[in-house]
Amino acid sequence: MTLHSLTQDKNFPRPFNENYELLGVLGQGGMGYVYKAKDLRLQRDVALKVLDSSSDKEAIERFYLEARAMKELDHQNIVHVFDFGEHKKQLFIAMTFVEGTSLAEVLRNKSKLDLGAIELLAKQIARGLLFAHSKGIVHRDVKPSNIMLTHDNRVYLMDFGISYIQELEKERLTMTGMAMGTPEYMSPEQCHGDEVTLSSDIYSLGVILYEMTCGRLPFIGAKPIEIALKHVQEAPPAPEIFRPKIPTGLSKLILKCLEKKPENRFHNMEEFLDAFDTIFEQNKQKEFEKKERTPLLSQSLLKDSVKRIIPLQKRLMLSGMFLFPLIIILMVLLMLLYRPSHTLEEISPEELQGAFLEKSIEPKVSDYNPENLFDASLRTAWLFEKPANIKNPILTMKFETPVLITHIGFANGYQKSDDDGIGNRFNIYNKLKTISLKTKEGAKQEIKLEDIRGMQYPTMTPIETSEIQIFFLKPFESDASQAYALSEIRLLGMQLE
Ligand SMILES: Nc1ncnc2c1ncn2[C@@H]1O[C@H](COP(=O)(O)OP(=O)(O)O)[C@@H](O)[C@H]1O
Ligand SMILES: [Mg+2]
Repeated sequence: MTLHSLTQDKNFPRPFNENYELLGVLGQGGMGYVYKAKDLRLQRDVALKVLDSSSDKEAIERFYLEARAMKELDHQNIVHVFDFGEHKKQLFIAMTFVEGTSLAEVLRNKSKLDLGAIELLAKQIARGLLFAHSKGIVHRDVKPSNIMLTHDNRVYLMDFGISYIQELEKERLTMTGMAMGTPEYMSPEQCHGDEVTLSSDIYSLGVILYEMTCGRLPFIGAKPIEIALKHVQEAPPAPEIFRPKIPTGLSKLILKCLEKKPENRFHNMEEFLDAFDTIFEQNKQKEFEKKERTPLLSQSLLKDSVKRIIPLQKRLMLSGMFLFPLIIILMVLLMLLYRPSHTLEEISPEELQGAFLEKSIEPKVSDYNPENLFDASLRTAWLFEKPANIKNPILTMKFETPVLITHIGFANGYQKSDDDGIGNRFNIYNKLKTISLKTKEGAKQEIKLEDIRGMQYPTMTPIETSEIQIFFLKPFESDASQAYALSEIRLLGMQLE
């Protein structure tokens, strides 16, 4: 369930208690809802996790203990807990509202991520865990739906320790003695009901790494109990089966995380990170060497022939003449080959179509075409009249190969510009409020924009597509004119293997 679909609900906004107003539902987990809420004291948005009523004294005590510990966790890769308490027999936790997408959604189509994306994600998850472990806190429920990714490449871990409270609660409810949530990411010791240590988090991270690399989970089963049994008894299939070109080091690292006995895994996150960094450094080095090995010109051949016929002075001059362009060519090649591995990729469409009436707000300029939307400067506005038929897309974007779009940035309206002879201009035109996306593959979703200036990255579900259309649904009501403006669009996403 996404926020946009649920904010249509008439019940929002509504008060939660004197300090929070609920704005919409962000998601639903095993023990209740997560809401987007307004903290009325600080006037900021938060995520409010409300656990269904608890009458169990032990669970409540545990909740306060865990929540106090979570409040202490202040790290760039961990969602911050601001506040917690009880209201009408409901336990609640207020935390950072993360505008982004969960890793669960990224992996929904079971895509194999490329090594750059794997590095970006795994490293930050590991750093968050390292910090928590150093404070004596074990996550206990490391899984993709507890990991958020923002448009600026920040990864956040959520829900530290919460599973423990849920386990207590479920134990009370079912009396099975074992909490059977989703065992996909659970360590053998957790499946078995044994003691949970930081090593269990390392195992769960191993499962996530396996999934990102292989495009599937190591253990699959029709029933939770089947999966749990496999975690305890079965060896995971070799990652090479699903990804033949996986660097050997990475495959070994994943399998080490997935060792059945905690003592055979990495002993702590530091050890994990050292091994992880070494593999990715080596891999980059190898990639680089592979590309460098193909010589442009055989240098030794060149040297020999030059030596034979030309005296020293000239030789020096000539080698300079040859070497200089060679160095330049090498530098250019290096620049082309260098792909920063820590960023989401900017995705640009191969083909663009705008099906609307294009207009320029400057009388002298006539080339306001869809390309302007991607020119990365907020100075161009792209105007159109509301389409006569709402079923017509305002923009169609086609891609050469299928892409995984994880975030779309929109700059609504018109930004203030420098005086360019015509004068300073502001966002004076009507803005889009609701748009919808439709892919050729049949996926559909509605996106709500906020009435703000500049770029925004609204909540969306990641999309794997080769062609996507944008439809205009609703403008902001305060605007009265007939022209609507969009200044810029940025598509961000990941390369798939
Ligand atoms: N701090 C947050 N900011 C934004 N979205 C959140 C936040 N916490 C949770 N969510 C969303 O709510 C969903 C449900 O969360 P939760 O109740 O913890 O269940 P689960 O982790 O099992 O999916 C998550 O998958 C996520 O999409
Ligand atoms: Mg969660």
